[in-house]
Amino acid sequence: MNKSDVVQLILGDRYLKQPQQNQATAYAPTNIALVKYWGKRQQDINLPVTSSLSISLGDKGANTTLSVNNKNQDSITLNNQAIDLFSNFSQRLSQYLNLFRKPNSTYFDINITTNIPIAAGLASSACGFAALAKVLNELYTWQLTSTELSILARLGSGSACRSLWDGFVEWQAGEKSDGMDSFGVPLDIEWPDFCVGLLIMQTQEKNISSREAMQRTIQTSSLYSLWPEKVNYDLSVLKQALQEKDFALLGKTAESNAMTMHALMLSAWPPISYALPQTVEAMQKIWQLRNTGLEVYFTQDAGPNLKLLFLKKESEAIKNYFPEIEIVQPF
Ligand code: PMV
Repeated sequence: MNKSDVVQLILGDRYLKQPQQNQATAYAPTNIALVKYWGKRQQDINLPVTSSLSISLGDKGANTTLSVNNKNQDSITLNNQAIDLFSNFSQRLSQYLNLFRKPNSTYFDINITTNIPIAAGLASSACGFAALAKVLNELYTWQLTSTELSILARLGSGSACRSLWDGFVEWQAGEKSDGMDSFGVPLDIEWPDFCVGLLIMQTQEKNISSREAMQRTIQTSSLYSLWPEKVNYDLSVLKQALQEKDFALLGKTAESNAMTMHALMLSAWPPISYALPQTVEAMQKIWQLRNTGLEVYFTQDAGPNLKLLFLKKESEAIKNYFPEIEIVQPF
């Protein structure tokens, strides 16, 4: 089963038809996993070893416009700057679009605006591919459901399948080899006081992609066999914490899950560490603050930046201790 097979399964007789509109625009929020996806059971169509659970970041995300052009190549702008078509970024994007368009017949001007740094472990690919799946759905008038779009977004980047909804979303790993049961499911839980603080240490592109890092972890870490059990446990505790609005339990579970994911990477060979000295300093500051009674936790993805988790009542204190922080209220 490869990506085109999945697209054909979903689109049926709508596969490789011409776009019905000349232009469309769509937005998708980025999402931060509280229980992480780390490892694929199938590489090509991004089927995960485990389920995962995230929070979408509301107005932090990507807005993408696709316009059919009359040239014989795509053009791509990111925040109004032209992007080299041979860059990894452009290649990944054009290859994704190739799954849906007739070969050598349709090219696009792709304009992406985003208010999050690209490829710095802030899940820019998550909102990027979710927005692309949505905009293609408009342009080709496929009229797909959010669940179907979640599967298509997953083909671009696994975590993108959680960016089709606001709020808390679970990506159910599924069991099927075609991945038709592997998609995001929104949780019916609102938590207006829930805050995420973005502590950005570096916005440069990471030197090892999450794809490569995941694969190396699975292949070489002797600890990886413990991961599925840890995720299952964390998922059930996190869902309980969400039901009961038990913030301390949520924070502890999310932080412990992220630390375990990074421990797996440290135990891979060659070892992988996304942390910078500033990352470790910030972690230690958070642990110290917690010892003084401030309820703040963090999570970290495939990059050096931390996402702080806290409730609205702690916002002022957090701003005092981390003046550079950007606070997002997902609800
Ligand atoms: O979807 P990818 O390939 O960018 O991988 C995302 C991996 C993490 O962000 C580290 C974890 C997650 O669940 O989002």
